[in-house]
Amino acid sequence: MGYQTLGEIVTMAGAADMLSGNMPGYGYDSQALWQHSLAVAFTSKMIAERKNKDRIHEAHTAGLIHDVGKIILDRHVLENKDRISAYMIQEEKTFLDAERCFFGFDHAEIASEICRTWNIPETISLAIRCHHRPSISNADELAYILHTADYIATMGGIGYDDDDALYELEPGALDFIEIDQQEVSDIMLKVLEAVDNL
Ligand SMILES: [Fe+2]
Ligand SMILES: [Fe+2]
Repeated sequence: MGYQTLGEIVTMAGAADMLSGNMPGYGYDSQALWQHSLAVAFTSKMIAERKNKDRIHEAHTAGLIHDVGKIILDRHVLENKDRISAYMIQEEKTFLDAERCFFGFDHAEIASEICRTWNIPETISLAIRCHHRPSISNADELAYILHTADYIATMGGIGYDDDDALYELEPGALDFIEIDQQEVSDIMLKVLEAVDNL
C-alpha cells in the first residue's frame, strides 16, 4: 500500500468521526455530512485523475473536509433557525447567503481558517475557501475541481437534500477545467455507483 493511500485512509478515519453526528441547524441526520464529504472527496479525485494527476491527493483531502465549517456554524444556525428560514423564503436565498447575512462569513471561510489551524497546506485551504466561488481563487485549478465535485455530488443527491436545490455551478466553471455535460453525467453515475457499494 502506497504512503499516499495509507495517508488517505488515516485521514478518512479521522474525518469519519469528526463529520458524523446530527446537525440540527442544517437539518442533517448523523450520516449526511459524512456521506456528502465522502462523495465530494471521491468526485474531486475522479476529476483530478482526468485533468491533473498531480493533484489527486490534494483533491481527495480537500473534498473530505471542504464543509467542515458547517460543524462550527450548526449551533448558531439552530439558534437562528426561524429567522434564517424566513429570510431564505422571502428573499429566495440559499443557505450560503444566509450564513453570510447572519454571521458575516460562510462555512467555506470558516473551513479554510480551520485548515490553517491544522497546518493543512495553503493550496488546500485556498481551494476550500473558494469552493462555492472558484472565480475568487485567482484561477486556482483545485478550487474549480472542488466546486465542480461539490456540485456533482449535490446534484446526485448524496447526503443532502432540500436547501441545496438552489446550488448553482458558477458560470464558466466547467469550461475552466474543460469538462463537458456528458462527462459531468458520467462522473455522477460513477460516484452514485461507488457510494452504493460502500
Ligand atoms: Fe460548502
Ligand atoms: Fe459541500
